[in-house]
Amino acid sequence: MQGIFASYARGWFVVAFSDEIAVGQSVRMRYFGEELVAFRGEDGVVRVLDGYCAHMGAHLGVGGKVVDNCIQCPFHSWRYAGNGDCVSIPYAKKIPVKARQRAWPTREINGVVLVHHDPEGKAPEYEIPAIADYGNPDWLPWTRNMYHVKTHPREIVDNLADKAHFPSVHRTEIDEFAFEVDGHTATQRAKGRAFLASGGVDVYSSTTTYHGPGYLLMRMDGAMKNYMIVAHTPVDQGSLDLRMGVMLKIAGDRARTEGIVGLYMANLKSGFEDDMKIWEAKLYREQPVLCDGDGPISQLRRWYKQFYVPTVDQPRADA
Ligand code: FES
Ligand SMILES: [Fe+2]
Repeated sequence: MQGIFASYARGWFVVAFSDEIAVGQSVRMRYFGEELVAFRGEDGVVRVLDGYCAHMGAHLGVGGKVVDNCIQCPFHSWRYAGNGDCVSIPYAKKIPVKARQRAWPTREINGVVLVHHDPEGKAPEYEIPAIADYGNPDWLPWTRNMYHVKTHPREIVDNLADKAHFPSVHRTEIDEFAFEVDGHTATQRAKGRAFLASGGVDVYSSTTTYHGPGYLLMRMDGAMKNYMIVAHTPVDQGSLDLRMGVMLKIAGDRARTEGIVGLYMANLKSGFEDDMKIWEAKLYREQPVLCDGDGPISQLRRWYKQFYVPTVDQPRADA
């Protein structure tokens, strides 16, 4: 990867659904081309550190034990706190100054765990907002799914402005479409008709917002009221993990809505899988040939580039 996309974007990225990391559990992760360990302390808080131990390089996420709110290396039992400091070595009188792991800023909100990635190590400049209805008993919890996709995140982000792909790929006619960017957010407002595989037509309106480069939240009113989360996090330069979830508002009784959610998810999955076939086989055109019916692709791309650190030979997109 060359130019501005040689680094990974700056911002908040989902690394797990909350229940993928139980209290007292450590999990090995690979994101941004790095090895990481996530662990949930006895206090219920998730921490994320660099995976390879500062001592002799064992992976803290492979056999690392959670002790209180620290992680203990499986090799020589050095113990690290959530801020990355080594707090105990069972056989040393003095802890070396350099005995520390990089600690990643971490948040847990709306049922997902996020880390903040910044190639320059700067502090986060925005936060992921809470979903007002998350945890509300009138809504079902997330029904979710995860894909490993061999593509670059920029292909997925393009979708937000790519109005013209909905009829071809998603069997959806768009009747109204608006797009706006504001700082770290980009929002699409749409009204349309989705032609379901089962034969029905769902007339819907939706508001879909990227909060930073890798976290999308959609609120949709149609046959069902729902939220959808789509979070994509680069694993390395050639692939990413895409987590998606849908939360339906209970309509009628809970059991009936639970019956519907499976169908709903199947429909969403088939939509994503249709996108994925295209993403995995396509070329990224820096200068696409666009026509008057296309969505605001260029505007979206200018917005997206703000999350990438400029390289020496590549000025900032907004310069
Ligand atoms: S490699 Fe981790 S304690 Fe030695
Ligand atoms: Fe799409």
